[in-house]
Amino acid sequence: MRTRISELLTHAKSGQGCELAGWVRSVRTSKEMAFISLNDGSNLAGIQIVADHKLANFADIARLGTGAALGVTGRLVESPASGQAWELAAEEIRIIGAADENYPLQKKRHSFEYLRSIAHLRPRSNTFGAVFRLRSRLAQAIHRFFNERGFLYVHTPIITASDCEGAGELFRVTTLDAASPPLVEGQPDFGQDFFGQRTGLTVSGQLEGELFSLAFSDIYTFGPTFRAENSNTARHASEFWMIEPEMAFADLSDDADLAEQFVKYLCRFALDECSEEMAFFDKHIENGLLERIRTVAEADFGRMDYSNAIDRLQRSGVSFAFPVEWGLDLQTEHERYLSEQVVGGPVFILNYPKAIKAFYMRQNADNRTVAAMDLLVPKVGEIIGGSQREERLELLELRMDELGIGKEPLWWYLDSRRWGSCPHAGFGLGFERLVMYLSGMENIRDVIPFPRTPRHAEF
Ligand code: 4AD
Ligand code: MG
Repeated sequence: MRTRISELLTHAKSGQGCELAGWVRSVRTSKEMAFISLNDGSNLAGIQIVADHKLANFADIARLGTGAALGVTGRLVESPASGQAWELAAEEIRIIGAADENYPLQKKRHSFEYLRSIAHLRPRSNTFGAVFRLRSRLAQAIHRFFNERGFLYVHTPIITASDCEGAGELFRVTTLDAASPPLVEGQPDFGQDFFGQRTGLTVSGQLEGELFSLAFSDIYTFGPTFRAENSNTARHASEFWMIEPEMAFADLSDDADLAEQFVKYLCRFALDECSEEMAFFDKHIENGLLERIRTVAEADFGRMDYSNAIDRLQRSGVSFAFPVEWGLDLQTEHERYLSEQVVGGPVFILNYPKAIKAFYMRQNADNRTVAAMDLLVPKVGEIIGGSQREERLELLELRMDELGIGKEPLWWYLDSRRWGSCPHAGFGLGFERLVMYLSGMENIRDVIPFPRTPRHAEF
C-alpha cells in the first residue's frame, strides 16, 4: 500500500519497508548510484531516493527527467547527507509516467509571471505546493474556529437576483440568446429568461446569511463570490472566496472582537500547524514573516474612527497619489500607511461616511456615518469589511429610497426587519487576502489555484 511521504516521515523507523509514489524533482547520477528527489505533494521537502546501479532498470532510472511519476518500494535509512534525517534505499523503482526535457518546470528558479502561464503545472513547484497546502489547512481551520464557537455553517446561493453590495458588479447569468434576445421596449426581456428575472453570480452571501442569523443566532458562510470589477490590481480577483460570519444580538464592537479573535486564531494556526510552509515563506518569500505573524497573533488590534484616520492622513505630510478628504473612500496606499506607519499593525477603521458604504449598514446618530468597519493590515490593506446592520425598518427603507434601491425585489430582506428584528452584525474576510497576508505572497493570482481576472480564465 502506498504511504504519503509526510506520513512516512512522521512515524519514521530505521529499516522500515514502504511503498511511495510521487514525481521527480531532480536526479543526480554517478556510475554507481542515482539520487532522486521525490515529492508527492504531502510535504515540502519530499524524500531522497537512493537507487543502486544493481537495480535491473538502473539505466532508465539514470535517464529520468524532472517531472516523471514513479512508484518506489524500499527501506528507510538514516541519511548521511545533511539537511535530511531520512532517505529511502530503493528496492524497486517503477516508472509510471515519463517526462522529457521539454517539461516546463525544470529545477531552477522560475518567475511568478512565468509560473502563472503554466498554472496547470505550478502546483508541482515548491512555492505553490506550500501555498496550496497552507490554503487547504486554513480552510479547515476556519471551519474549526466557527465550529468551536457554535456557529452554524450555511450555504448561501451562488445564483442570485440581488446585488448585495450595490456596486453593479454582478456577472450576468442568462440562457437568453446573446445575439437576439427577446425584447421589451428595446431591452432584453429577462421575464423570458431561465429564472424569469434578471440574475447574476453572487458578490456576497451576506443578505441570505442575515436571514439565517435571525434564526440560528450565529452563522457563517464560506464560499465563492464573483465581482465583475475591472480592476487589474494585485489584490483583486473576479472570483474569490469569502468567509462571512453574522451574529444576532451583536453590535459593531462585538463584530470587531470576533474579527480580531478570528485573525489571531488563524495566525497561530499557521505558525503551529503549517510550520514547514511558514518557514519556507520566511526564507524565500518574505524575510521576517514569522516574526510579523507572531507579533500579530499577540497584538491588540488598533481601533480608529474614520474621521480620525482622515485627520492622521492629512497631517502625515505624505503626498499620496489619491486625495485624502472626509467623505472619500480610503485607497490601498492610505490603508497601508495607516496600518504600517501610524499603528504598526492591524487596525480597525470604524464609522465610515454613509455615502461610500452599502445600503444595509446601520446609520449612526450623527446622521452622516454608518457603523461600518474595515480591518487594515500591513502589506495588504483591507482584509476584512463588515458592519452592524440597519435593523430598523423605517430607517432601512428610507436609506433604500435615498439610494434608489428597489424595495420590491428585496421584500424578503425587509420582512426580516418586520418580525423579530434585532441588532446584528457581521463581516467578510477575503480568503485570498488572508492567504497573501500569512504567506507573504504579493499577488492574489498566486494564492488561488486558477485565478480569474479581467481577460484571464484559461485554466
Ligand atoms: O468589503 P466587502 O465588499 O464586504 C462585503 O462583501 C460584505 N457583504 C461582507 C459582510 O459584511 N458580510 O468584501 C469583504 C472582503 C474584503 O475586505 C476583501 O478582503 C475581500 O472581501 N474582497 C476581495 N478579495 C479579492 N478580490 C476582490 N475583488 C475582492 N473584493 C473584496
Ligand atoms: Mg470593503
